[in-house]
Amino acid sequence: MGTPDLGGGPAGTDHAAHGGAAGIPVDQLREPPGPADVDLILVARAGRVTLASGRVVDGFTLNGTTPGPEIRAVQGQMVQVRLVNENVAEGVTLHWHGYDVPAGDDGVAGVTQDAVGIGGSFVYRFRADQAGTFWYHSHQVADPQVKGGLFGALVVTPREALGDTVDTTALTHLYAGRRTVNGLEGDVPAAGAPGQRVRVRVVNTDNGPVQVWVGGAPYRLAAIDGTEVTGPTPSTDSLAVTAGGRADLEIDLPADGAGVRVELGGASAVTFGRPLAPTPRPAAELDPLHHGTPAALPFDPAAATRSFDYVIGRRPGFLDGTPGLWWTVNGHLWPDVPMYVVRKGDVVRMHVENASGELHPMHLHGHHAVVLARDGVPATGSPWWTDSIDVQDGHSVDIAFVADNPGLWMDHCHNLAHPGEGLIAHLMYE
Ligand code: C2O
Ligand code: CU
Repeated sequence: MGTPDLGGGPAGTDHAAHGGAAGIPVDQLREPPGPADVDLILVARAGRVTLASGRVVDGFTLNGTTPGPEIRAVQGQMVQVRLVNENVAEGVTLHWHGYDVPAGDDGVAGVTQDAVGIGGSFVYRFRADQAGTFWYHSHQVADPQVKGGLFGALVVTPREALGDTVDTTALTHLYAGRRTVNGLEGDVPAAGAPGQRVRVRVVNTDNGPVQVWVGGAPYRLAAIDGTEVTGPTPSTDSLAVTAGGRADLEIDLPADGAGVRVELGGASAVTFGRPLAPTPRPAAELDPLHHGTPAALPFDPAAATRSFDYVIGRRPGFLDGTPGLWWTVNGHLWPDVPMYVVRKGDVVRMHVENASGELHPMHLHGHHAVVLARDGVPATGSPWWTDSIDVQDGHSVDIAFVADNPGLWMDHCHNLAHPGEGLIAHLMYE
């Protein structure tokens, strides 16, 4: 980890074990080998890419496409993915964004594994215990690789089937500044008969938030970051989906076949039913902090055994020897940033505060945190479980989680240009 950034270490070299829990090397915190229920090979390639829309960009593919194949599993299944690097000079990895995999499968180059060099491969294995909407992406020089298309959706459906709900993924991405949905541009029609219920899984793979709203029918915010919202009421508000975050929207399509549009930033839409003209963004914004109905948490945040501050700032200085205007964590420049040390079983509280002049979508690896408060105002709605949360400039959030996944985990900004400018810290188990 000599450099900040999401990876950037040497590719494909043999490595000494990295640090982990109670002296256990991270690369030993893994699922043992064995048969898998979902088993696939993903081949990463750099070069000219033809999007589903027909547009040609410079970028990356997995098995010849970007986004890469959607990985679908049923809750409880074992998932195994062999990543092969065909020609990506900088090396590649796969990180399972939002999935609490064993640390050795987290795909963080320089922390949990070395990047996979050309001709090399790495096998990821994890048990798909949590149902929900997630995604995967390279975590080696991630800004250009994710911008260029090295990602795909990961959907785990619940053991009890979704009934006759139509299940659609809307993976949105900016390729060279243009908004796409599943690689397509403009209006993207989706399946769904009049009167049917659809679940639209919005995945934001950008470096900034995307405003999502639904024209033609109300929606229910069924899940955030792969966790169900309890008691969501129908809404017509706009919803900000954080960079790296996911939102599952449930919509009952009108029985008369009238058009419905899931608007993604106003530039692209997933459409159902008869044609409907683009709808303007509603002025009101849904706030998950006060949406849905409260429910018991599986732990007591008031009984926290560790409390940390993660204060984001910005100042001129030398970052690892390079002069510039850099992000700081608790006033420090990389690499002099906090290592948040926990013990398995700890209830951890973290106060994340942004005084840096810019929005940061903060992403914690390996754990799901519940949002307790924003700017000191306590949550009143459904438990809001998150792995990716916007922290606006001049604002703060308080989160809590249980340290239940030993290893060494990143906690960084998911505007992927920012980790390379110092906005990274780590969580380590003692
Ligand atoms: Cu989606 Cu550390 O990344
Ligand atoms: Cu940032």
